[in-house]
Amino acid sequence: MKRFSFGVVLLLATSVQCLDNGLIRTPPMGWSTWNKFHCGINETLVKEIADVMAAKLSKFGYEYVNLDDCWLDSNRDSAGNLQGDKTTFPSGMKALGDYIHSKGLKYGLYGDPGTHTCQGRPGNEGHETRDAATFASWGCDYLKYDACYATATYQLHAYQDMRDALNKTGRPIGYSICPDASRCNDPNTVMWDASSIANVVMCRGDRLCKTDGANDIAPTWQSWTCMLDVQMQFNSMGYAGPGHFIMPDMLEVGNGMTNDEDQSHFSLWAMIAAPLIAGNDLRNMTDETLEILTNDEVIAVNQDPMGKPARRVYTNNITEVWSRQLHTGDYAVVLFNKDETVQKITLLWRYIGLPANQPAKLRDLWAHQDLGTFSGNYTSAVVPHGVKMFKAVQMRGGL
Ligand code: GLA
Repeated sequence: MKRFSFGVVLLLATSVQCLDNGLIRTPPMGWSTWNKFHCGINETLVKEIADVMAAKLSKFGYEYVNLDDCWLDSNRDSAGNLQGDKTTFPSGMKALGDYIHSKGLKYGLYGDPGTHTCQGRPGNEGHETRDAATFASWGCDYLKYDACYATATYQLHAYQDMRDALNKTGRPIGYSICPDASRCNDPNTVMWDASSIANVVMCRGDRLCKTDGANDIAPTWQSWTCMLDVQMQFNSMGYAGPGHFIMPDMLEVGNGMTNDEDQSHFSLWAMIAAPLIAGNDLRNMTDETLEILTNDEVIAVNQDPMGKPARRVYTNNITEVWSRQLHTGDYAVVLFNKDETVQKITLLWRYIGLPANQPAKLRDLWAHQDLGTFSGNYTSAVVPHGVKMFKAVQMRGGL
């Protein structure tokens, strides 16, 4: 990888022409079929999930019901158009979109720039205009566009083709791409153009983590923490902002980790302004899982209109401090314990750029409690694999 001086990086970053489709001004929130169900999906399942989302989650901001791979029939119809899998989606994809919309929710579909999707269903290569029109005719509101069967050099141009095809439909369709990690990693290629291409870039840190056979996020501590580390390389490039966000992958909350790990995973995704796309079975979740997914104070950090992702401001490899600037001038802070034993972690005001004598009020966003007013530093004990998450509100004009 070429190394740029800081000045050159800044120049490149500011010269990027961002995609201006007016969509996804804050990170999208919703649910996707993939992490829990993989190819075992059908229209009944998706409708039941939409019912739960409308009843329990939409008031917290969740709105996208996203079908991932395997919704497509293996064959196009006789006219060459895509069609839903005839066995698992017998009512057709328009009917499913109508159902999701009738619940006040949005409808997400999945495609692939290559000849086939990752699971071998028809890809969109060479059919971009026709397929985008088909998606729009079904009422699609969001497209996840993967990377299988598309060579690295082909991807960039293919992603642009689908962006233009979606735009031509005249329907607002949020656009999420999943380039290979090498594309995100290389400042010469996708990373610098991604904001002009897509609303969401999933950087496939998975390829560098290789924590499970499929290279995707898995419901394990090792998997998501690795993806987060990889993601930081991209975030530090200043890519994310209203209209364009990056994500390490979809959420694994409720898929088998401990509640402390789920809470940490959700907090850090919220901090880095990653899309909050749940991946568990919403129909059968514990109260603790629901509480994590619907913590409105943590979600408010994720949805901060400035869209500025957190930075890791301190690490000694077992404990970390993360800080995110909010549009109010306040800060969201996470103390993160990666160790197997309880650790005391100290937030120093200088980590977040506050003078040591500046009083700030701290609010604990998981306990939903005001902790008081402090100056200079604040120390807290954090459980293994857990977090403390605060909002730090500066006391302007002193005490
Ligand atoms: C890739 C993606 C996953 C999922 C599968 C579907 O592996 O990274 O998120 O979309 O394809 O086949």
